[in-house]
Amino acid sequence: MGIQESGLKEQLEERVKRAEKILLEYLPVPEPAEKLCAPETIVDAMNYSVWAGGKRLRPILLLEMYEIFSESAGQKLERQGMVERFAAAIEMIHTYSLVHDDLPAMDNDEYRRGKKTTWAVYGGGMGVLAGDALLNYAFETASGVFERCLSQEDYVCAGHAMKVLAENAGIYGMIGGQVADIEGERKQIGESVEQQCELSEEELLYIHTHKTGALINAAMQIGAIMAGEGRMEVLERIEQCAMDVGVAFQIQDDILDVIGDSKELGKPVGSDAANGKTTYVTLKGIEEAKREVERLSGEAISIVRTFPGDHLFLEELIRYLINRNS
Ligand code: IPE
Ligand code: IPE
Ligand code: MG
Ligand code: MG
Ligand code: MG
Repeated sequence: MGIQESGLKEQLEERVKRAEKILLEYLPVPEPAEKLCAPETIVDAMNYSVWAGGKRLRPILLLEMYEIFSESAGQKLERQGMVERFAAAIEMIHTYSLVHDDLPAMDNDEYRRGKKTTWAVYGGGMGVLAGDALLNYAFETASGVFERCLSQEDYVCAGHAMKVLAENAGIYGMIGGQVADIEGERKQIGESVEQQCELSEEELLYIHTHKTGALINAAMQIGAIMAGEGRMEVLERIEQCAMDVGVAFQIQDDILDVIGDSKELGKPVGSDAANGKTTYVTLKGIEEAKREVERLSGEAISIVRTFPGDHLFLEELIRYLINRNS
């Protein structure tokens, strides 16, 4: 991951391992089907997409927020098993969003997480279905929390967390952002580029907060909600923090799409330019985009410092994301 700070590197590796152990527990296992091969193919494609790699940022954030807020709410990590279901679900939803994002009808990319994209291996139809399957399986996994509820409070927290997950993944969340992203492309029509201006900063902010901020928001909110945090003003502060992290994360992704190394990134560079996307880099240039990543991350860290519990790892993680190269 290119991290210099060895303490953080170890802590991150440990958390990635933990997130992957949880994923392994909940993802369906590919088994040779006796007669019908359909489930085997789709389970295979789901596993291919998830195990290609990835930073596991969203489950890590979710689990971290749960720990931070549990300390103050005196929850003593009693809902660990329920929280793990949400952690698995959010990575499934994130992976589905990438599988669809790479399709020829969307960003048309052939590499992701250092491997051929799902559609490039399994075909376009199966790429669509593998994404659908991951999205549906995420909700099959998350809804299992209701079987573990023991008290009225457990049901209230689990129901609230499910709502946050569904809303942030949906049309007013990540999907809405992806729609605006696609509609904002300057398409090449025949020989000439269609006369369409670059997006405004406001439109770009809408895209970034929705396509990227929303799932990061879901991760951070769900961790806190499952720890018993239900106060509106605290959840709003978490949302502001998540949006700062999400927009900074997406601007850094846009910067890496221009100056990154495709081997290190595990995905192609130049995808945004090829698709005629407006990004912070096209609007403001690399240097100002970098400054914006730092500014937003600083804002996020100042909110994190108002959180209860030990939030040092979270602060360091946000700081690390500013300079990440993958
Ligand atoms: C990629 O997300 C899509 C964006 C929101 C920029 P990540 O950079 O978190 O992708 P993985 O999970 O590490 O592959
Ligand atoms: C996609 O943004 C964000 C999603 C919701 C999938 P990008 O299209 O910039 O992500 P990459 O660069 O392909 O990972
Ligand atoms: Mg995209
Ligand atoms: Mg893309
Ligand atoms: Mg990108």
